[in-house]
Amino acid sequence: MTSPSTPRTHDVADLALAAEGVRRIEWAEREMPVLRLIRERFERDRPLDGLRIGACLHVTTETANLMRTLKAGGAEVVLAASNPLSTKDDVAAALVAEYGISTFARRGEDNDTYYSHLRSVADTHPQLTMDDGCDLVNLLHTERPDQVAEIHAGTEETTTGVIRLRAMAADGMLRFPVIAVNEAQTKHLFDNRYGTGQSTLDGILRATNILIAGRHVVVAGYGWVGKGITSRMAGHGAHVAVVEVDPVRALEALMDGFAVMTAPQAAAWGELFITATGNINVFRREHFEAMHDGAIMANSGHFDAELDLSALKALAEGHVREVRENVTEFDIGGKKLNLIAEGRLVNLGAAEGHPAAVMDMSFANQALSAEYVARHHAELEPRVYVVPEAIDAEVARLKLAALGIVLEPMTAEQVEYVASWQHGT
Ligand SMILES: NC(=O)c1ccc[n+]([C@@H]2O[C@H](COP(=O)([O-])OP(=O)(O)OC[C@H]3O[C@@H](n4cnc5c(N)ncnc54)[C@H](O)[C@@H]3O)[C@@H](O)[C@H]2O)c1
Repeated sequence: MTSPSTPRTHDVADLALAAEGVRRIEWAEREMPVLRLIRERFERDRPLDGLRIGACLHVTTETANLMRTLKAGGAEVVLAASNPLSTKDDVAAALVAEYGISTFARRGEDNDTYYSHLRSVADTHPQLTMDDGCDLVNLLHTERPDQVAEIHAGTEETTTGVIRLRAMAADGMLRFPVIAVNEAQTKHLFDNRYGTGQSTLDGILRATNILIAGRHVVVAGYGWVGKGITSRMAGHGAHVAVVEVDPVRALEALMDGFAVMTAPQAAAWGELFITATGNINVFRREHFEAMHDGAIMANSGHFDAELDLSALKALAEGHVREVRENVTEFDIGGKKLNLIAEGRLVNLGAAEGHPAAVMDMSFANQALSAEYVARHHAELEPRVYVVPEAIDAEVARLKLAALGIVLEPMTAEQVEYVASWQHGT
């Protein structure tokens, strides 16, 4: 396969940052043994030979290691940021200058630049898309319908992206198969829960340096991300309340030991608010008006839509200022409300995203899913697929092996027992 004529270029903030980026990428690599094993095999087997991959992912040290793995497998990889605030500029520089991977990402890029970067990826005519939030797939379907037939398949990293893809498929709009990497157990059980749990706390602490112990913390959404955040906050001594709309999840939160409140109740009670719902305007004008002076808000859901930022800005009538790096204060008349990382993913905007050890599993799923679609795309239909069970199991097995943990197999008697229906009391 050869690449179409569009020249590969890059757009990063400062190539002089590459050396620092390399140091940090190598540091992350130490915590990514599963991906390293896959890379070594990819170097030998070249399962992605000549495949053009267009990726739209957070440009972090862990993503850099995924890009290196795909390239080692023989793919031609082009990367754009999946969020304007999540790019680590040193990593973007290292990808271009050290690893020869075409990268379009600048931290703090405006919306136009963000989409121009996605178009640069689209210009390379990807055959496999690797998305985090469905923006690249969306752009290809809406702006480049003539290119969609060239695409063998895609992979999707996050819950919000998978929800969008399922909505596209339900409307009959999805035109190529996509593997929902988020739905691998070795992804969401660990990345969404432990990864986001820890890195959300990390982002909030780096931005504010507040004491969590004793604080009233409100978490909206008790999905995998919400569960991770609440448990980490409780572990630091916070009083935690959950806002939910799903009765089962609300009950689960209650029995895990958290208060369950409506958004208005929580607004009047909380001091630190964190959204993780994948939904829009979870906290809005009436809630901002009910919050205490000094309240802090952060979002860990995929898009910056969970807090109604237009209402917040309107309430502040221009009385807005940066009070610390990554913290904006909105004076809404007698009360000051603080917003971390512009309401974008707090763990990536104000910290470094998930620890590499957890991204090891998420990106092992990405790499193995890419290999799977390279082999099997002709058999797949344009719909959302779960990650094959064999891949999920292999990622867990490799991770345990890397951690030096061995599982004892069942005895022959146990195998027979669990497979039979004749045994009774
Ligand atoms: N920050 C990160 O690095 C990171 C990592 C993984 C996932 N995510 C994103 O976090 C979000 C949540 O992911 P998840 O895996 O926990 O999803 P999930 O579907 O497991 O959980 C979301 C929960 O939010 C609840 N919810 C929906 N609307 C609500 C509302 N108006 N008020 C209160 N609760 C509401 C749902 O009932 C559900 O229980 C998604 O946008 C996902 O893409 C972010």
